[in-house]
Amino acid sequence: MSGGRRRRALGARWRRHRPLRTRLAVATAAAVALVALGVCAAAYFVIRYEMYHQLDLNLTQSGTRIVQADRHPATGVLAGECRYLSAPACAQVVPSDAAKDPAAGYLLPVAPPVREVASGQRPPYFSNFTYEGHPARMAVTPLGGGRALQLALRADSVERGVRQAALLLSAAGAAGVLLAAVLGYGVSRTALAPVARLTATAERIAATRDPRHRIEIPSGPPGREDEVTRLAASFNTMLGELEQSVSAQRRLVADASHELRTPLTALRTNAELLARADRLSPAQRDRASGALSRQLREVTGLVNDLIELARDEEPQPLLEVVGPAALVEHAVATAAAHWPATPFPLRVAPDAVRAALPGVPARLTRLLTNLLDNAAKFSPEGAPVETELLRAGSFLELTVRDHGPGIAPEDLPYVFDRFYRAEAARALPGSGLGLAMARQIARAHGAELTAERAAGGGALFRLRVEVTDREPGRD
Ligand SMILES: Nc1ncnc2c1ncn2[C@@H]1O[C@H](COP(=O)(O)OP(=O)(O)OP(=O)(O)O)[C@@H](O)[C@H]1O
Ligand SMILES: [Mg+2]
Repeated sequence: MSGGRRRRALGARWRRHRPLRTRLAVATAAAVALVALGVCAAAYFVIRYEMYHQLDLNLTQSGTRIVQADRHPATGVLAGECRYLSAPACAQVVPSDAAKDPAAGYLLPVAPPVREVASGQRPPYFSNFTYEGHPARMAVTPLGGGRALQLALRADSVERGVRQAALLLSAAGAAGVLLAAVLGYGVSRTALAPVARLTATAERIAATRDPRHRIEIPSGPPGREDEVTRLAASFNTMLGELEQSVSAQRRLVADASHELRTPLTALRTNAELLARADRLSPAQRDRASGALSRQLREVTGLVNDLIELARDEEPQPLLEVVGPAALVEHAVATAAAHWPATPFPLRVAPDAVRAALPGVPARLTRLLTNLLDNAAKFSPEGAPVETELLRAGSFLELTVRDHGPGIAPEDLPYVFDRFYRAEAARALPGSGLGLAMARQIARAHGAELTAERAAGGGALFRLRVEVTDREPGRD
């Protein structure tokens, strides 16, 4: 594995295994520590530069004084011992040509660069060197006439100062790193406190499977919440929806089991009766088996309806462009065949024929069938069930109206509830799931299904949906 990949893999493992709080603490501490160390390092270099600069200024002044005193000093040692900062520098004049060196020799070491400055091949320079075992600073400047002035001062005090500064700054840096660690920990604790609360709540919900828990949101000026507070708020909203959906599911299961109990008991009674068929007369046997098959059909229908209701959305792959007019015509024809005693007049406005919408045809047919069956079931024989399909701008409106007893005002708000059946309807077959399913299908298609009392008696169901125009040439 290459170095980069290994580093990345290590980084990924670190991110996976460390809690967010540790990572944030380490990152903050590292950033602050880096800044502290950077500042210390910068301060060290500035102090060092300034101290040497002072020494260099002294050397330059000494050189100027020497040249002012004697414009053409003789080659060789000018000023005796090298001393400390404040003292005059020791000095010597060096020719570019080693052959012209004085017989007495030099006080300071003469390196080739000194000769180069003397010959004008190199600019003046400063350098550090060791003088009799002590640190010292040297300046070399050209004197003219193929000579260089070499000056030196002992740099012990400067070196000591620099060392002390380094020590002090290292201590300050270490304190900075420590402080950074404490700060990092503190910052991560405070910054992640809401996240920790959020995590705790989420874990509690996962453990107890109870979506009634909520995250406490600190009260603050609205619109000024931070990201975590907003996240907590949307988490709470999500929990609310989850709670609602869980309780809706529970209600559905409770209602379903309650509704299934009666037909299942009747079914069992008839089945038990048939088990003793030898003791029954043929007529009794026929009645019992007839009732049994009717009840079986009812239960099957009820279970199928429940399965349909448990579905939430229309499955995407089944969506296609539907022409509602054709669908309505087909549903009305089917209903007419199913209820031969009931006339089903249908009126489709010409501009409604072109309308189209994305939908699942089988489900939309189911919706229409539920409305038409109800209308026929609840109205007296021979009374017409009138269906109308109208276009109002980009909306399509379907109405199914019958001439039966209509829906009582006190029942109107509940007819779309699951298992709701008005007092008067209990004598007729049905389980009260038809309209709940119809509304669910309507909603899944972005349509609105409402019930009202028709003027002049009877019930009127209205379905409103936004549609587009079908492309010409397509059927
Ligand atoms: N056209 C109508 N006229 C009068 N009442 C109606 C009409 N349609 C529905 N209702 C009332 O609304 C209730 C709910 O209707 P829904 O279609 O959900 O149930 P259902 O027809 O009784 O049973 P299912 O449709 O499950 O066989 C009915 O029981 C009835 O009281
Ligand atoms: Mg019905």
